[in-house]
Amino acid sequence: MPPVVALHAPTAPLDRLGRSMHDLRISVMDRCNFRCPYCMPKDTFGEGYRFLGSSERLSFAEITRLAGLFVRLGVRKLRLTGGEPLLRAGLPELVGDLAALPEVEDVALTTNGVLLGRHAEELKAQGLGRVTVSLDSLDPAVFKTMSGGFGTPTEILEGIEVALAAGLAPIKVNCVVQRGVNDHTALELLERFRDTRVVVRFIEYMDVGTRNHWDRARVVPSAELHATIHARWPLTPVAASYRGEVAERYAFADGRGEIGFISSVSQPFCGACTRARLSSEGVLYTCLFATHGLDLRTPLRAGADDAALLELLRATWLGRGDRYSEIRAAAEAPDVNHKIEMYYIGG
Ligand code: GTP
Ligand code: 5AD
Ligand code: SF4
Ligand code: SF4
Repeated sequence: MPPVVALHAPTAPLDRLGRSMHDLRISVMDRCNFRCPYCMPKDTFGEGYRFLGSSERLSFAEITRLAGLFVRLGVRKLRLTGGEPLLRAGLPELVGDLAALPEVEDVALTTNGVLLGRHAEELKAQGLGRVTVSLDSLDPAVFKTMSGGFGTPTEILEGIEVALAAGLAPIKVNCVVQRGVNDHTALELLERFRDTRVVVRFIEYMDVGTRNHWDRARVVPSAELHATIHARWPLTPVAASYRGEVAERYAFADGRGEIGFISSVSQPFCGACTRARLSSEGVLYTCLFATHGLDLRTPLRAGADDAALLELLRATWLGRGDRYSEIRAAAEAPDVNHKIEMYYIGG
């Protein structure tokens, strides 16, 4: 018998540093109902700020078509982000379309949790696998400072409960840690989630975008936080669950659960970065700290066929050499202006 040749399966491209494309993060909405100062500070994102109009955002059909092409180039994991993705009307429908794509192994959502309770069951029914909720502190006053005055810890906790009951597991909680702002409430957050199926992950405050007045002095290195937690509840390291996992995992030695540290400032992980990012207006970025992206909406709306779009994606990935966090770690002040903003690309 002649060998079987997969006619329409282009080979997965490797970038200039030998990294494949495995994880596509899709921002579906540039707006957010929070104004976290480290992401969308009010002084920039006030009432006069012009967000995208609905016709500027990719439609669900456009997103699904592009996602299908990324899958043909090796992507297996999709994460929906924002701004706040649950502000996008009809999001469960998109989840259904994406979950139905062949070869997609993981469809996840990152949300601030305020609207989670309202949508968790429908998201699960449409094929969402799991959800990651941003929650920086359980202290109401600290929470308010970090959300820009919106939402309450109680609302977020209720959303998490509904998501757990709906079977969206594992649930992860992302906590951005800032020295002098919420670092003193980290143990309280862990206390609340020990013995639940929720995994808390502490994220080093990063210099994403250009608007958040990043100050290295506000970064709490994970090693320091690890020592504080270990003194209270001894921790043991857990192996990564997949190559290139962003979080370093630890288990409570007493068996009461698991936590993680995301240390892009003190221990950059660019070497295994297989993430591509699509903005809500259809621009492809190959790094969270990129200054430029590839506009896919124009060719898409001009009628480009799949072969032409695949070629664009492949060429972009082949030319990718991004390793911003490693460069930042080596140089005190990398020469990068006009970086994209976190709210626009979704973390
Ligand atoms: P899992 O699939 O659950 O392991 O999570 P994930 O790898 O998709 O991570 P998640 O989206 O929860 O990312 C958490 C945070 O880590 C983000 O909000 C960012 O702050 C940071 N992060 C994620 N990916 C990158 C990356 O590629 N580079 C940098 N520098 N930070 C990242
Ligand atoms: N540093 C680290 N993480 C950030 N996020 C947003 N801005 C920053 C920053 N400056 C992450 C938060 C949020 C997700 C959407 O992006 O974890 O949960
Ligand atoms: Fe905060 Fe996330 Fe909204 Fe940014 S996108 S303002 S981090 S809730
Ligand atoms: Fe990937 Fe860029 Fe983050 Fe490095 S800084 S891990 S290349 S997204």
